[in-house]
Amino acid sequence: MTDLDLVVHDASEVVVGPADGWPANTMGNVPPDSDVVLYTEPDAAVAVVDGEVAAVGPTEEITREYPPENADHVIDAAGRAVIPGFVDPHTHAVFAGDRSDEFEAKVRGRSYQEIAAEGGGILRTVRATREASDDELLSRLLSHLDTMLAYGSTTAEVKSGYGLNAETELRLLDAIDRADGEHPVDLHATFMGAHATPEGMDTDDYVERVVSEQIPAVAEQGIARFCDVFCEAGVFSVDQSRRVLEAGLDHGLDPKIHAEEFERVGGAQLAAALGATSADHLLRATGNDIHALVESGVVPVMLPGTAFVLGKEYADARAFIEAGAPVALATDFNPNCFSRSVPFAVSLACIGMRMTPAEALLGATTNAARALDLDDDTGTLREGAPADLLLLDAPSYRHVPYRVGENPVAAVVKDGRLVTGSPER
Ligand code: NIG
Ligand code: FE
Repeated sequence: MTDLDLVVHDASEVVVGPADGWPANTMGNVPPDSDVVLYTEPDAAVAVVDGEVAAVGPTEEITREYPPENADHVIDAAGRAVIPGFVDPHTHAVFAGDRSDEFEAKVRGRSYQEIAAEGGGILRTVRATREASDDELLSRLLSHLDTMLAYGSTTAEVKSGYGLNAETELRLLDAIDRADGEHPVDLHATFMGAHATPEGMDTDDYVERVVSEQIPAVAEQGIARFCDVFCEAGVFSVDQSRRVLEAGLDHGLDPKIHAEEFERVGGAQLAAALGATSADHLLRATGNDIHALVESGVVPVMLPGTAFVLGKEYADARAFIEAGAPVALATDFNPNCFSRSVPFAVSLACIGMRMTPAEALLGATTNAARALDLDDDTGTLREGAPADLLLLDAPSYRHVPYRVGENPVAAVVKDGRLVTGSPER
């Protein structure tokens, strides 16, 4: 056996991925119940060849076929669970400045919108970001990625949106691209020039700038994959959002949208009409919105950390799941919601939105990969998937939401290589 990168053996369980497609009563411990969504293999091993999952199965079988002594690395996972690396499909991780004082103002009763109306919030981060050097932006992003990786994110989306002019938006996308090259976390870039209207500008005039100046420049630069817009009362209307997303589509950028967060203004219906890759937030989405999103295959991304820090009611994840939607979860890491921890979002999804631990785990892995339109089985440990896996300091994936506010991740393997943490105990 050549190029056997890694054998992880004797794991108490290996989470392989969604249950659909698996013969329910012949493999692993998926009973033939209709509500079982996760396929897990008990007492299992994973063999990794050329950075990809070559096989998952009972330790005895796998180690016979892939002898650990032939592998470059061996991890004894006795008593511990192995799960796919998390995919965080919604972050605003590239910015400068500090808004910790706004956190306190919110605790004392001021609202997100009041703070924004006084020039705080996004526009404050824009001022700090425009002043930061390229090196500072990159090093701050890399340090956030270190933390995200330590909490188990092996793939993430990062949005621009704190530049609000062509020059700075391109600098932010460039920082994302450089970080992607330097850091183990795989990054997918989203252009979000339509995040807010710059100080002193009319919103229609700014939308015109985004459409005629920024989007063509972003397309020319060739880094961004998606185009996002903050469709919200007092930010960008549905018509303005449509202009931005259609211009993005004309330039090969797939649409994403911040929809129905504070008020229900019609962003979800717009996402459905445009066939957006995802619609995110959705705190105020109604039954009709849910139906439209499911019909058009738009992935709903829930950001429970944001509802949590803002003290808002959570999105109705159960209604989405009952309608058949592949609910994805993300941190929404940004200067307002300063959490880089997918495990924390998974806990909140269970506690606040009544997602089961299995549903929440799928939300943070396979469904999150769907929210980034990834088609290589990222977010699973199926044969052929990238070998992005987490060794938990716990016997079951259920400990991810259960250990609220803790990091259940002992070690992270990216493309078959140990990149952070330690398998030793
Ligand atoms: O997704 N809603 C818009 N954007 C971010 C917040 C950004 C900020 O406050 O800096 C979000 O929550
Ligand atoms: Fe966001």
